[in-house]
Amino acid sequence: MIDLRSQGDVDGMRAAGRAAARVLADLRRRVAPGVTTGQLDAAAGDLMSLHGCESACLGYVVGRLTYPGRVCISVNDEVVHGIGHPGRVLREGDLVSLDVVVRKDGFIGDNAATVPVGAVPEPLLRLCAATESALAAGIQAARPGGNVGDISAAIQGTVQPLGLGIVREFVGHGVGRRMHEEPQVPNWGKKGVGPRLLPGMALAIEPMITLGSPKIAMDPDGWTARTRDGSPAAHFEHTVLITEGGVEILTLP
Ligand code: MF3
Ligand code: CO
Repeated sequence: MIDLRSQGDVDGMRAAGRAAARVLADLRRRVAPGVTTGQLDAAAGDLMSLHGCESACLGYVVGRLTYPGRVCISVNDEVVHGIGHPGRVLREGDLVSLDVVVRKDGFIGDNAATVPVGAVPEPLLRLCAATESALAAGIQAARPGGNVGDISAAIQGTVQPLGLGIVREFVGHGVGRRMHEEPQVPNWGKKGVGPRLLPGMALAIEPMITLGSPKIAMDPDGWTARTRDGSPAAHFEHTVLITEGGVEILTLP
């Protein structure tokens, strides 16, 4: 069952998306060599208060685990759901993925970006650019009357020719009053396949792409997903709304 948003819901989703985007935009500017991921997590909490929203990650329960951070902060070979820590200092050359999910007036906004710390090697910049392009291609492929697979195929078609890895264990998702709703939005697939896209559907599209093998392993903390081969990963995400005329990105500042 895929929920469609009413006009009132759409206004709420727009406000939540904008707040999530503002927090992410402000947080990215705090990324610098010497900053700890614990400081970034604390800053995220302040920024959420500033922008009139709260963390949807803090206290998020999956099975027997409760997420302890305000935002997900994943460094280098960490793909997603990394946890900020006061002892984790960012160094020049690192890649840091920031995943900001907020709740505002009962609605969720979900967005992510991978940010270079100072000067980083060219291949890492290309990884980030390719992942951001894949997200853009996925969004462009979304239209009412199309299928979820159109988005998936556009993402796959962008990164696969470049020899990059597509993480399979995590996918994009429907979003609304809850962070994770139907449908799943995989980052690989075939055009014309999967659930039909209809006006009023809100989706979080989020390619997670690796420079080497896409195989991941979970850390003992139960949250942090990292590449098995130690290769760096990138993650870009927007929340979008399927409209009568096409697609609207909700997570723009
Ligand atoms: N954007 C991430 C996702 O959709 C955010 C997860 S928050 C966490 O999975 F609390 F579950 F870690
Ligand atoms: Co998400």
